[in-house]
Order: sequence, then structure tokens, then C-alpha cells
Amino acid sequence: MADKKLTGQTALVTGANSGIGAGVAKSLGQAGANVIVNYVSKPEDAEAVVAEIKGYGVDALALMADVSKEDQVQAMFKQAIDHFGTLDILVNNAGLQRDAKFHEMTLAQWQLVIDVNLTGQFLCAREAIREFLRRGPRPEVSKATGKIICMSSVHELIPWAGHANYASTKGAIKMLMQSLAQEYGDRKIRVNSICPGAIQTPINTAAWSTPEAYNSLMTLVPYNRIGQPDDIGNLAVFLASDDSDYITGASIFIDGGMTVFEGFSTGG
Ligand code: BGC
Repeated sequence: MADKKLTGQTALVTGANSGIGAGVAKSLGQAGANVIVNYVSKPEDAEAVVAEIKGYGVDALALMADVSKEDQVQAMFKQAIDHFGTLDILVNNAGLQRDAKFHEMTLAQWQLVIDVNLTGQFLCAREAIREFLRRGPRPEVSKATGKIICMSSVHELIPWAGHANYASTKGAIKMLMQSLAQEYGDRKIRVNSICPGAIQTPINTAAWSTPEAYNSLMTLVPYNRIGQPDDIGNLAVFLASDDSDYITGASIFIDGGMTVFEGFSTGG
């Protein structure tokens, strides 16, 4: 029986119809939050996540928006706030990869990843902060006036050949997150990042779907298992709840030890 630490609060999770976003949306719902399930394609997947979350006895709503488009993001926040009255938690999760060797990377591959992974986080964080400032404190539900969780990656720290566009966005998200934590701390808005390692989702199917790929991946993971979306969901609930009330401006790595660089266990 999950702890209902988020009862009475509303969370918006971008890219919540699959992968980590779906896992986070369900965990927040289990913890008692109402959840907006943002998606850009496959509405039927978003509706399935909504149905599961409603089964936890909270409200949920699927809203379509391309997070890289200002008008769509603003329309989504308006619909969300009209429906739920306000917003307490934003999980800036939507992200994608368009991998290429750097000398072969097209501007379109570079730009799409920047637009979705970085500009998308800017646009959604800006709307969330505007709402937190407009609404002010809600001490009956949380010590913080608002919480933002940015989905970063181990690749805000680990350089990644063949993925320079993706790694660049994750490095940038670190500074976006910390700058917002600095700028709005006195308004009691907490901003933190989750930095997942290899989590079993569609974004990295090639890394886990054959025994050879999985074994090779495990040479990078001291804890010797791939992560699951609910590993990330548990951390998101913690970061959204008052249990983490003194944490802001932090990047929390959740990676089975990927960032302790297992290759150095014999060598160096
Ligand atoms: C990437 C995955 C990758 C993982 C570990 C994530 O940020 O999206 O494709 O498996 O980092 O390298």
C-alpha cells in the first residue's frame, strides 16, 4: 500500500504515455496526486496510463502537446489549470534521441533534440513557475509552493560519443535546473533533477533487447541489473513530497552505479 504523500496535489508529467514518464505518472498517482498525462503521439497509450491512474482513486487527464511548441504548451497548462484549479508538481520528462556520429549529424537531428529535450523543459518550467507565483503557497498540501523535477541523465556527467546532441541537452538541463533553484528558492519553489542510467524503456531497446547487448550493458552497471520505470517513479515521489523539503538544486543519480565507472575496478 503506497504512502499517500501527495494527496490533494496535482502533477503534470510530460511524455507520460510511455517509458520513464509513464512510470513516474503512475507512481505519483499511487502517492495520491492527480496527474496530467502529456503526450504528443499515441493517444491510446496516454489513455491507458490515465485509466490505470484513475484506478488508484485519483483524477487523471491526458493532454496532447508538443513540448517544443510555445502555443501548445501554454494551451496545455491552461487546460490543466482549468480542470484541476492549479498545479503543484511539474515533471519535465519528455525527451528523445536522434543518434549520429558527430561528423554525420544533420542540423535537423541536432535541432530536434535541442527543441524537445531543452526548449521543452524551458517552456514547461516557465509556465509552471508562472502558475506557482500566481497561486502562492498552499501549506495545507505542501511546505513548498511548487516543485519541478527535470529528467536529466547520467549523460549530464558522462560524455557520450555518437550522441553529442543528446548529451549536450542533458548538460544544459543541469544549469537550467540549478539556475531556477537559485532564482526561485526564496519563493519556496524547489527544482531538482533525476539522472537515470539505463532504464528498460523504448528509448534504448537496442541496449537491452538481445542477451549480447544486455551483457555488454551490464559491464557498465555495477549493480548488474537494468533499471525499471518504477525505480524512477519512487524517486520522483520523494522529490515531489515534503520528505525532500530541504533538497533543491540537486542532481540525483539513479543508475545502479553507472557513474562510479566500473571499468576502473581493475585498472587505472
Ligand atoms: C539514454 C539511454 C541510455 C542511458 C545510459 C539515457 O539517458 O536515454 O539510451 O541507455 O542513458 O547510457
